Amino acid sequence: MKVLSVASEIYPLIKTGGLADVAGALPLALQKQGVATRTLVPGHPAVMKALQAPVLSLQYEDLLGVRAEILEAEVAGLKLLVLNAPDLFDRAGGPYLDQNGKDYGDNWLRFAALSRAGADIAQGRLPDWQPDLVHVHDWQTGLVPAYLRYDAAPAVPSVMTIHNIAFQGNFGREIFPRLGLPPHAFDLEGVEYYGQVGYLKAGIQTAWAVSTVSPSYAEEILTPEFGMGLEGLLNRRASDLHGIVNGIDTDVWDPQADTSIAKNYAAGDLKTRPANKRAVEAQFGLVEDDGPLFCVISRLTWQKGMDLVAQLADDMVAQGARLAVLGSGDADLVGALQAAAARHPGRIGIAVTYNEPLSHLMQAGCDAILIPSRFEPCGLTQLYGLRYGCVPVVSRTGGLNDTVIDANPAALAAKSATGVSFGPVTLDSMRRAVRRAIRLYHDPKTWLQIQKQGMKSDVSWEKSAAIYADLYSSLLPKGSH
Ligand code: ADP
Ligand code: GLC
Repeated sequence: MKVLSVASEIYPLIKTGGLADVAGALPLALQKQGVATRTLVPGHPAVMKALQAPVLSLQYEDLLGVRAEILEAEVAGLKLLVLNAPDLFDRAGGPYLDQNGKDYGDNWLRFAALSRAGADIAQGRLPDWQPDLVHVHDWQTGLVPAYLRYDAAPAVPSVMTIHNIAFQGNFGREIFPRLGLPPHAFDLEGVEYYGQVGYLKAGIQTAWAVSTVSPSYAEEILTPEFGMGLEGLLNRRASDLHGIVNGIDTDVWDPQADTSIAKNYAAGDLKTRPANKRAVEAQFGLVEDDGPLFCVISRLTWQKGMDLVAQLADDMVAQGARLAVLGSGDADLVGALQAAAARHPGRIGIAVTYNEPLSHLMQAGCDAILIPSRFEPCGLTQLYGLRYGCVPVVSRTGGLNDTVIDANPAALAAKSATGVSFGPVTLDSMRRAVRRAIRLYHDPKTWLQIQKQGMKSDVSWEKSAAIYADLYSSLLPKGSH
């Protein structure tokens, strides 16, 4: 089976969050299921730089008014199709935001062009390759299934995965005539969303199947609290909605082989793990001690509950804990966390940056990772934590709920606990959870059991890749694969 995946970012070339990890790891896992994936990505500068001997496979004089070409290349085992359109993607900022952190004013065009190119490839525009199905990710690619629906061309099956419903890609209706869709596509049954053009809405509306990245989140987004306005449409499509939990690339994230950490270790033997704790302390200017060291590796946003971390910081220090924070995001939250670090030199450290190797070292050296998200479609950092023996302390929502087993008395007795979870997402409930984690930490036998149990959890892509492969097969004409 041949699948075209379309994504706006992909690890290891360009990453702002978990979407890139998934876009980079899923094709490798699908390969073992007999699915050959090629991934269409924008020609961001970092992507263009990584291409070696790319092959030109399609040239556009006019892709929604822009000159563009599609290049084929293989990078890090991934078969890429790169939409090289310098007018759209050769920018100094990030993939979505300029250097001042503002959305590019033409994001509607940048990702409509990506989607138009995706639909063209799905319909067989490349000279030598045509996929059986197209799998698109998040609002940036939501127009792919819409183009496929409205083009006068044979139908192509599509799957739309929602990684985060908070980002919907809604734009003023004045852009509609520039998208190259027929007038009747501006409709409730098409791309229209409350008088605007909604890219994510369009994808959910027109894809053959819709998925999101955990079973719990698939349930949650059917409710007004989590659906963010799309719950009505999602309920109408509930029978086509699938919750498939993310895995992680267990080769990239492997404490036994990781070259970004101070000392490698195996699940069965954590004796050398503390060398990594010493390295984290040194990096963050923390005093050396054997008390519990918590970390945060996150976008610093309200979604991630970072206001609660800032508010709890004093209490954590009073309980003898230390905290290392790696992340960037909202200025207010950065400020609040920096203030906490300033109040507690040697006990709280913060690095306001994006640093992939440091994130590995923290998972290897910290005792616990704090993830108090208000909503979390899947979450990957708790999976990295499980794999590295960095015990996740998480809110009970979305994928966090599906991947972490709370150390309640029953789970402890059954030796099945892998972390600490709490709800609702309030300061009080988080405080109780953190205190509970600290108590467990001071019972070394129990703590080690939790760490080891977490390290035994299956966080690989294997099971979920098989579920995606089945979903794809179910959409293809019977008997074709
Ligand atoms: P989201 O995609 O919502 O931000 P996920 O947990 O799915 O959340 O994925 C976040 C990814 O980004 C993880 O791979 C995490 O390790 C990484 N990450 C987040 N912030 C940083 C940072 N400041 N430095 C390095 N990696 C980070
Ligand atoms: C989104 C979600 C996160 C998920 C990631 C990958 O960024 O916020 O929960 O893990 O996508 O699916």
